[in-house]
Amino acid sequence: MPFYHKLGKIPHKRHTVFKKPDGSLYSEQLFGTIGFDGMSSNSYHEHRPTQVKEIRGSYSVKPKVATANNIKSYRFRGFQVIPHPDYLESRKVMLTNSDVDIILASPQESTNDYFYKNTDADELIFIHKGSGKLRTHLGNLDFKYGDYLLIPRGVIYKLDFDDENNRLFIVESRRPIYTPKRYRNYFGQLLEHSPFCERDLRQPYELETNDEKGDFLIKVKKQGEIFDMIYATHPFDVVGYDGYNYPYAFSIHDFEPITGRIHQPPPVHQTFETDAFVVCSFCPRKYDYHPESIPAPYNHSNIDSDEVLYYVDGDFMSRNDIEAGHISLHPAGIPHGPHPGAVERSIGQTETEELAVMVDTFKPLMVTEEAMKIADDTYHKSWLDH
Ligand SMILES: [Fe+2]
Repeated sequence: MPFYHKLGKIPHKRHTVFKKPDGSLYSEQLFGTIGFDGMSSNSYHEHRPTQVKEIRGSYSVKPKVATANNIKSYRFRGFQVIPHPDYLESRKVMLTNSDVDIILASPQESTNDYFYKNTDADELIFIHKGSGKLRTHLGNLDFKYGDYLLIPRGVIYKLDFDDENNRLFIVESRRPIYTPKRYRNYFGQLLEHSPFCERDLRQPYELETNDEKGDFLIKVKKQGEIFDMIYATHPFDVVGYDGYNYPYAFSIHDFEPITGRIHQPPPVHQTFETDAFVVCSFCPRKYDYHPESIPAPYNHSNIDSDEVLYYVDGDFMSRNDIEAGHISLHPAGIPHGPHPGAVERSIGQTETEELAVMVDTFKPLMVTEEAMKIADDTYHKSWLDH
């Protein structure tokens, strides 16, 4: 997160005596990234955050790959992913490579029995259906339809859902996720041409401070395995922190689309960046206003990136037979484009209600066995004339 945030009580100087009302000391933790060079937060805990009581074992959550070297375009019917009461069990990896897992999840219940911490990856959770509260050791954020939740690696969290009808599109990134550098000035401030600004990024607003001892289960993900670790103190015991490393939320509905006289390329929709993929938001907007413009995209070759589109809402003008919750995969190396009739259909149209999230990866994605359960195996032929 490229700007400073402070929540709760902190001492005037870092690394100095900070006393509880009873005279004992709060425990300080520097919560950092990229060694000591990346963004960090400095937090103050009721107890030492290091008190491991027991490691109960581990289990693999690595995805099972169906197609490692894929050249086929696919459509996956995302809402056919079967809901599961448990949040972690509900997460199904659809597409994967060494940088990123693209996941669909339909959890029915809040995470009541454990805390979760992903040490492998930043997690970007897009809320397609559902609402509730993201609770973390660095404060809480409310979420609802259309929100991106960015949870940096290492943040301990729980998800409280308001009801059981939840659909999440999750990007689990082993590379850090940032807002695009070209939107920011030398000082990190978002520039005037950025499609969003600091006011649109919601910071944690509510800190839960639990001064409790006992047995607290944190499911810690590391190297594709989940370790069941029992800690002796409550993981949410922070009285205050400040810094740059914390979870935040951004609503796709706050993305201000950039439009032009002729078709604008995908980078105008960019929302997040990493050195391994980009995330773009396709939002309701006015179409191109040149009198002869073709609003549908032109055919294009993804020579060196795989293109994943997650369809959220509205009418998807360039595609036939696409519904909310579908994912399309257009792999590197071959061209794709509008479906038959879509170019003609688009001419003269003035606006679109489409809402979609795109992930373009620079390394090829492997298709998992879970994805094949909901795959349309004929999609790659859907550009043929009938
Ligand atoms: Fe495309």
